[in-house]
Amino acid sequence: MKYHIITFGCQMNKSDSERIATILEDRGYKSVSEINEADLIVVNMCSVRQSAVDRIFGLSQKLAKLKTQNSKLKTILTGCILKSDRQKFTKKFDLILDIKNLPNWPKNFDYKIHHGEICNIRCENYLNIQPKYQNNFRAFVPISNGCNNFCSYCVVPFIRGSLVCRDHQEILKETKKAIQRGLNSIRKAISNRAREIWLLGQNVNDYQSPTNLSINFAKLLQMVNDILGNFWLRFTTPNPQNFSDELIETMAKCEKVTPYLNLPVQSGDNKILRKMNRPYTIEDYKNLVKKIRKKIPDITLSTDIIVGFPRETKKQFENTVKLFREIKFDMAYIAKYSPRPGTAGAELKDNVSLPEKEKRYKILTEILKETALEKNKKYLGKEVEVLVDEPVPKNGFLIGKTKTYKTLKFAGPKNLIGQFVKVEIIDALPWGLKGELKKNKKCQHLS
Ligand code: 5AD
Ligand code: SF4
Repeated sequence: MKYHIITFGCQMNKSDSERIATILEDRGYKSVSEINEADLIVVNMCSVRQSAVDRIFGLSQKLAKLKTQNSKLKTILTGCILKSDRQKFTKKFDLILDIKNLPNWPKNFDYKIHHGEICNIRCENYLNIQPKYQNNFRAFVPISNGCNNFCSYCVVPFIRGSLVCRDHQEILKETKKAIQRGLNSIRKAISNRAREIWLLGQNVNDYQSPTNLSINFAKLLQMVNDILGNFWLRFTTPNPQNFSDELIETMAKCEKVTPYLNLPVQSGDNKILRKMNRPYTIEDYKNLVKKIRKKIPDITLSTDIIVGFPRETKKQFENTVKLFREIKFDMAYIAKYSPRPGTAGAELKDNVSLPEKEKRYKILTEILKETALEKNKKYLGKEVEVLVDEPVPKNGFLIGKTKTYKTLKFAGPKNLIGQFVKVEIIDALPWGLKGELKKNKKCQHLS
């Protein structure tokens, strides 16, 4: 039996798909990269914006066509699914399964699909299922699931539920395994060891270990940093509220924690922030950024922004423009507001028209282009360490990320993928850097 997983959305969904793969392979399924070779297709969906949901409707039509060519084909829908959408999808998929119930999936789909025996994997919390990593050198490690914040635009608390933190020992065990895998064999150690760890959660700085309440996110970060091995440590997503001085200090002093932070501000206007149920002001945000930049001067700072929240006036939007000019973000994920059923925001009339949202989106993108270029130019002539990610199709270039999470393109052989190399920056563009591989290209202390 062959399976194929299609994943939409954030890194948390990608990480969930790696656990789905474990469950399927335990049942004897083999992964295939071509969708039309599969007997089982799992769609792991996202509902953060309506456009993401609409894509699943489009995909379900393609799946229906595949079913006419392969009568054995079964389909499962999982991930972030709104209650109100569940019914609409019931007819389009063979099964809709809750990701939190992953250890019990085989019971469901074996019974409904194959009438087979039950899978060996048993565990209370699906996050404790050992993932089947899709990437040899990068490991996503979830530290929590869900969120208690109820920002008024956001579906996450309704879909993923309230914040549940993972035992710190489980997190450390999984991380160590990823970093130290293959260490017994020299060849494997080079090709298979995780060089980048991402700690994941919808709201990481509210982390608290359920088995030791004194272990907060800063302490956890320090503990992961202290694991033996050469790797970069990243995390996402923190909140501007509860971002403690202890966390800033820890980020600054931990040598493996990378100088990169995505710190979602969502709006530059205090009234809109209040309507969004975000419990900080722009002044708080700016102070926080100041403190972070003082302790970690070379930090890359990105943010998330929503334009066109209900009743966002032109003047209020201007405050976001002002914030953009002041903070000079390296990167920003700008979204047009999309009302989500069940959220508090959905009660308000979505009165900013789509063309106006698009206009605001473009204005912020233009500013970002300028500030990102200004920031990237600071790298010119410098030599940086890069973790090589993937080849650019057909042109002999490789793409990688710097420790500061800048995207970098340079010419080099494919066997450098998954390695740390030294690259000199020769050009700076708004959305990335261009570089030249150094002669002694491997980073001795890191490889
Ligand atoms: N509409 C538009 N953008 C949204 N986001 C979350 N919910 C919505 C919504 N209803 C954005 C936020 C969040 C990111 C993951 O997605 O900016 O930080
Ligand atoms: Fe959603 Fe993030 Fe707000 Fe939680 S903190 S409700 S995940 S936007």
